Amino acid sequence: MEKIVIRGGKPLKGEIEISGMKNAALPIIFGCLLVKDSCIIENLPDIDDVRVALTILKDMGATVNKLSENVFMIDATAARSGSSSVELVRKIRASYYLLGAEIGRYGKAHVGVPGGCDFGIRPIDQHIKGFEALGCKVRMDGGYVELAAPNGLHGSSIFFDLVSVGATMNVMLAAVCTPGLTVIENAAREPHIVDLANFLNTCGGQISGAGTDTIKVKGVDTLHGCTYAIIPDMIEAGTYMMAAAATKGELKITNVIPRHLESITAKLCEMGVDVTEGDDYVVVKSGKRMTRVNVKTQPYPGFPTDMQPQMAVLMCLADGISQLNESVFDNRFRYTEELMRMGALIKVNGKVAMIEGIPALRPARVRAVDLRAGAAMVIAGLATRGTTEIDNIHLIERGYDDLVGKLRACGADIERVEERNI
Ligand code: EPZ
Repeated sequence: MEKIVIRGGKPLKGEIEISGMKNAALPIIFGCLLVKDSCIIENLPDIDDVRVALTILKDMGATVNKLSENVFMIDATAARSGSSSVELVRKIRASYYLLGAEIGRYGKAHVGVPGGCDFGIRPIDQHIKGFEALGCKVRMDGGYVELAAPNGLHGSSIFFDLVSVGATMNVMLAAVCTPGLTVIENAAREPHIVDLANFLNTCGGQISGAGTDTIKVKGVDTLHGCTYAIIPDMIEAGTYMMAAAATKGELKITNVIPRHLESITAKLCEMGVDVTEGDDYVVVKSGKRMTRVNVKTQPYPGFPTDMQPQMAVLMCLADGISQLNESVFDNRFRYTEELMRMGALIKVNGKVAMIEGIPALRPARVRAVDLRAGAAMVIAGLATRGTTEIDNIHLIERGYDDLVGKLRACGADIERVEERNI
């Protein structure tokens, strides 16, 4: 099994370039299923989840060719309905986008139930509510989701019971080639939703309002091929911003959209960290001890739930008692047990964690319990003098492109080690 070994306590200094956004790349890759033509997708991050998504399409009969670093041609003309591999679909949560893409392309769908990070139950009832509004009959059968539209699909109005990134994008995929007007209300507003809408519109779609809570989709007959570049990953950028703060270093983080980082920047400044914004970069600098802060995760533009574990590490190293409130997912504090093995003082009560700042964390052997929790353990190791080892790193490699390489280039003593099973 592989592990990450960090000899921490050194300030990060240098420059890190951000890769394409995982949570935009995945719906756009599956969105290519709607296009009976070839698409060239640029700035795809080199991460396991993207590799799984591309393999799923290839197994369905699509042509997928790597044109150069982070640039792929995808031609789904020959892709066969309902032929995705259940083993691969189970590896990633984003495979639920196959439902919207298949129903939009074939008028039916047959997809295994998705997998993904484990933080409590992750229902897809809002996705199903959207599909049923468009005229689908939905059946859950033995680990599969079956969609059928015996009377065809039609535009409709959907008011989501709660803000859901996945359900918002899935209905966009199902509606973009569905006759009539579909109005999605109480929609999620994340930048990756705007990116998917921009991709589909570049292929000839007619989607307006993405980025607001009301999205209108005017169905078109067909989508044509295009060339499209994925936006930078705001969560990857936020992770390195926090690594700079935790190690009292100075990092220039390039290829970002500062506006997407505003809630993260605001919280870091509240803690006494210095953040300077440029057109497409931020510089994060911190020499002194951080002060406590309260954080409540919210859908965009609020503080992202995907930055919650990383923020917990900063709170461990800040003066005073901080409050961390996870309002998006049911159970996203499992990683706190790993931080407590490093000496963290954390009390979790339901969706709220109270974190008492301590002088320093202790090095330990810990594990990644999910993707972003794994990134948080890396930050904890970087900030802690001594040797920290992190297991389960395949979870981290699902969503971070060359994390070890990017950190080593900024002075971190970090390596990926193959551990022979004794
Ligand atoms: C997406 O998950 C992201 N994953 C998650 O990122 C991210 O944390 C989340 O959005 C919120 O931003 C991908 O894009 C692949 P939701 P998703 O639907 O779509 C509940 C990462 O680390 N809900 O916005 O699953 C749900 O249980 C990953 O990159 C329903 O109840 O998130 C949660 O409590 C982790 N019914 C809340 O809504 C539904 O039908 C928000 O979920 C759908 C969701």
